[in-house]
Amino acid sequence: MRTAAYEIALFPGDGTGPEVLREGRRVLDALAEGERGRWNLTDYLGGGQYYQTTGREVDPESLEAARRADAILLGAVGWPGATLPNGDLAGGALVLGLRQSFDLFANVRPCKLYEGVRHRISGAFQQVWTPKNVDLVIVRENTEDLYAPLRGRLKRADETELTVDTRIITRKGAERVIRHAYELAQHRPQGAPEDGVKRLTCVDKSNVMEGCRFFRETFDRLGPEYPEIERDYAYVDAFTQWLIRNPEHYDVVVSTNLMGDIITDLASVLQGGMGFAAGGNLGVDHGMFEPVHGSSPKHAGRNVVNPFATFFAVEMMLRWLSERHHDDSLTRQADRLERSIAGVLRARSAQTYDQGGTVSTSGAGDRIVEAIRGLAA
Ligand code: IPM
Ligand code: MN
Repeated sequence: MRTAAYEIALFPGDGTGPEVLREGRRVLDALAEGERGRWNLTDYLGGGQYYQTTGREVDPESLEAARRADAILLGAVGWPGATLPNGDLAGGALVLGLRQSFDLFANVRPCKLYEGVRHRISGAFQQVWTPKNVDLVIVRENTEDLYAPLRGRLKRADETELTVDTRIITRKGAERVIRHAYELAQHRPQGAPEDGVKRLTCVDKSNVMEGCRFFRETFDRLGPEYPEIERDYAYVDAFTQWLIRNPEHYDVVVSTNLMGDIITDLASVLQGGMGFAAGGNLGVDHGMFEPVHGSSPKHAGRNVVNPFATFFAVEMMLRWLSERHHDDSLTRQADRLERSIAGVLRARSAQTYDQGGTVSTSGAGDRIVEAIRGLAA
């Protein structure tokens, strides 16, 4: 077990980001009680609101600290009116910027419906589904595709005449994210809820696009190295209906960046909504973990948003650190956190407004902290 403290850089960011990250910090503090010096948590400023007051999205020293940290936990960025002169989202340096500059090539987004949580597919279906139906992970490529910063606008006499976004799929980019997904499928013990089969589904549009054809070829080329994983295929348009009709079929899913962006929001309705959706942006040397919901300006400062996505982001971070540093004590802490979360959800004692409840953000945090204290490390 590693004895040095883990350095964790917290970027609360904009809107409700600071509110959920405050609860994330309390969870980490509760897990470390009685175990002095497990981790050092340091807050750094940055985001759209920071840009509005300082003219900088984030300070270079903060980015340097993030580079040195063992892991990064991000709240959310984005604020109405906070835009860079070129039209980009101010604060994007912390999301898209870090994905590129720290080469965080795999965006891993688990989608599991816990007992006691209502999925968010309208009325009649509420609560029909359980974790027996929804337990999958979507792995999204995170550095290329239409997100490659290769775009532009051509103006003539101040009139926009033409815009270009470039879709890039490289051998290296496809290979490393697909490998990551195969390895994840290998390590998930349970396989798909439907039949227990370890399955990796490649979601693309290879019936039309060359980059997708290459992505799928790469998926097939690497497949024989993972003989115990069933290879499965879906065009993204068909996938959107199959995912909702038959989520139990899916175990691990891999896709390109923009399609991954879209299908992960869609998948979140199966797990209770964006309030439960967490993501890990993983590279070789760095990992950044975040609730996926964004800064939610209309709820900012009201202590009402759902902090569970942040709790799941903390859990992912602990598992990732545990694996990197061969530190089983962190797996035990992640297990303890997951059991605490599952217990509170099952008891429906921390339902925020999005689940039809009246519990506040910090009230939900209180329930989790109590549950953690009730479970031995
Ligand atoms: C996400 C977000 C980001 C993305 C935005 C905030 C740029 O939607 O993390 O999914 O498009 O990747
Ligand atoms: Mn998104």
